[in-house]
Amino acid sequence: MLPPDNLLSPEAVSDPHGFLRRLREHDPVFWSPRHKVWILTAHADVARLLLDRSLSTAQGIGSFRQRLGAQHAGLLHHAMSLLDGWMLFRDPPEHTRLRDPVRRAFTPAMVERLVPRIERHVATLLDGLPDPCDLVADFAQPLTAMVICDLLGIDLSEREFLREWARDFGRLIYGASSRDASYLDAVASAGDRFHARFSECLARKRAEPDDSVLSHLLAVSQAEQWTQAEILGACSMLLFAGHDTTSALLASGTRALLRHPDSLAALRADAARLPAAVEELLRHDGPSKTFIRVPVAPMQIGGHAVAAGQHLWLSILGANQDPAVFAAPERLDIARDPNPHLAFGAGIHFCLGSALARAEARAAFGGLLARFPRLRFADDQPHRWSPTLVDRSLLALPLRLH
Ligand code: HEM
Repeated sequence: MLPPDNLLSPEAVSDPHGFLRRLREHDPVFWSPRHKVWILTAHADVARLLLDRSLSTAQGIGSFRQRLGAQHAGLLHHAMSLLDGWMLFRDPPEHTRLRDPVRRAFTPAMVERLVPRIERHVATLLDGLPDPCDLVADFAQPLTAMVICDLLGIDLSEREFLREWARDFGRLIYGASSRDASYLDAVASAGDRFHARFSECLARKRAEPDDSVLSHLLAVSQAEQWTQAEILGACSMLLFAGHDTTSALLASGTRALLRHPDSLAALRADAARLPAAVEELLRHDGPSKTFIRVPVAPMQIGGHAVAAGQHLWLSILGANQDPAVFAAPERLDIARDPNPHLAFGAGIHFCLGSALARAEARAAFGGLLARFPRLRFADDQPHRWSPTLVDRSLLALPLRLH
């Protein structure tokens, strides 16, 4: 009998790991009759396919565009034009053209320079936390929005705008079960708002350049003859990719630590464990659920004939809990070594913000655990997760601090 394959069922949303394990045990290259896609859950397959340059991400977004139809494409003009500038949905050589200037503007040295500010933001937010608090709304989301403001060189007062924008634009990216009647209006408005706000912001940066990623990006992209739409697209990609994912990690990582008191105690006792612990939190229940790749020619995967144009859903969560690579994968082992998780992807689309995400996570977990020795769940209600295919993020995480 086939295992259940509805990745949007309440069961799969709340416990994707058990669900993906059953799919992997049945067949790690699983044709889903429901979603009409291949779901891949073995680490070896996902790692190899992320590196396979013959697979397309652009075709995934192309079919999405077609489904929207001409009428909606008009309404969503600005939103779709932002997406056109997302390197994530482009194949080489376009991908290289869009990634290279961002990579040159967003350097490791720039991340290093941001660390003291990140630590200050952590301290400020921890100072102001109510007790009980919702770690998502009161800490994780504001922190990641503040860091993105710093990164782009925009005023911290913009963080509310960024947070709301990311929420609304997320409905375009995450789609699926969140497509209710207000879906199109929210996404269209997010596209229009971003276009207006960031067009002004770019004009200011052009007039008064500074040391932010945005100014560097403007300089590099001028040399590369990028269009204004491409610059806006890159900004929106950085903003979106940097906001939701990192905030999801801070919340799900805190939840995982509280559910594993031994690991929590070991981490409190020795802060030098933090970098390895962050890697394990990324692996154990990280923010990226699934990424789509599309073969442009027929191929064989795990004994299955995959046709050109069929969608492959590469399950990052599934790969990161594959017992063939990770012993006792459901256990949080903050000293796990080696830890070849795929939370930041691999290959040409490897996450450009991984150094920043790691720096934020170290500062946030370090600050939170040091400040609140009695940190615990505020209640025993089941946790609610975002009901999407792509992201694994908690909607709220109520905690007691003292
Ligand atoms: C814990 C936090 C994060 C996680 C788990 C994460 C995960 C990922 C993953 C899995 C990919 C590859 C997607 C694919 O192959 O289809 C990716 C791409 C990307 N990420 Fe991150 N990310 C995080 C934080 C950030 C931050 C903070 C930024 C920037 C501010 C960022 C910027 C990007 C960009 C620009 C890409 C596209 C790269 C490309 O297509 O060439 N990410 N991220």
